[in-house]
Amino acid sequence: MNHARIIGTGGYLPEKVLTNADLERMIETTADWIVERTGVEERHVAAPGETTCDLAEHASRRALEAAGIEARDIDLIVLGTTTPDHVFPSVATQLQHRLGCHGGPAFDVQAVCTGFVYAMDIARRFIATGATRRALVVGADTFTRIVDWQDRGTCILFGDGAGAVVLEAADEPGIIDSRLHADGRYKELLWVPAGVSSGYDRTRQNAAFVEMRGSEVFKVAVHTLKEIAEQILTANGMTAADVNWLIPHQANRRILAATAKRLGLPEERMVDCVRLHGNTSAASVPLALDVAVRDGRIQRDDILLLEGFGGGFTWGAVLLKY
Ligand code: COA
Repeated sequence: MNHARIIGTGGYLPEKVLTNADLERMIETTADWIVERTGVEERHVAAPGETTCDLAEHASRRALEAAGIEARDIDLIVLGTTTPDHVFPSVATQLQHRLGCHGGPAFDVQAVCTGFVYAMDIARRFIATGATRRALVVGADTFTRIVDWQDRGTCILFGDGAGAVVLEAADEPGIIDSRLHADGRYKELLWVPAGVSSGYDRTRQNAAFVEMRGSEVFKVAVHTLKEIAEQILTANGMTAADVNWLIPHQANRRILAATAKRLGLPEERMVDCVRLHGNTSAASVPLALDVAVRDGRIQRDDILLLEGFGGGFTWGAVLLKY
């Protein structure tokens, strides 16, 4: 069985920054309330006409450059997104076309904020079977396009972005383990109650906007992020003490802090980009990974624990040696 290891990371945030001061002018809120409850100070918002595929392309080119390989060396693209440019074709196929690496499989994965973790798990299994030698794994979302800017309980949280990694077949891990979960019973705690088959319109009854029961999501998220971390560590004979860097889904500063505390992991060993990124959905984990790789915190051979949690609910973790 082949192992899969990361040979390059990349990230991209759109230019436009939306600060809490900007939000104070748009909705009934205060910058202090947002920071205290979420830790978010600013988030990036895609420009009109700028799409998920645009963000994904920037992040992917940076990851390819960091890996020192050409796009034609990629034989699989798996892309996590909930906000594709089109109903079809997938963002992954359009990304493949733009990068110029035709012919190999390319597809999107819809697991909301867990999209990147799902994509990593899938790509590593392609590599394990020998079907793939080098995979481009992307998390990209323009979540602000499905945010109701009049709903102060949700619009404060989300931002746009993309992150990518290049995985390559290797003799040793690399990815030590990855685990995915889902439970559809929680659908209405965090969802967009509209869709292709059930129909869209712009009325409040059937709007294509995120709806969330925030405090309920909060509780499940904290519990779940702790559980999956313990599950994957225990299964591999490790504890939190073995983890150099925890990279959780960047949902909310309080969720991150509570997760680290419950795991007994010092917050200094957790990558936290919530303040400047907000929740970028599937992009959040690979963006945080890329930030910490590029600023030198993450070093080769460090043990990383990546965690995702999102609508569905979906959740999962990837344990790896960088
Ligand atoms: N500014 C000011 N007040 C706000 C507000 C805002 N932006 N948003 C909500 N409020 C108000 C509410 O209306 C409510 O007022 P009320 O008591 O008069 O009804 C009060 O603040 C408390 O609301 P509540 O929703 O209970 O707050 P909270 O402490 O749970 O914080 C969230 C709200 C959204 C920040 C929090 O629940 C959260 O982060 N949840 C997890 C969300 C998440 O991470 N989702 C993605 C997972 S992938």
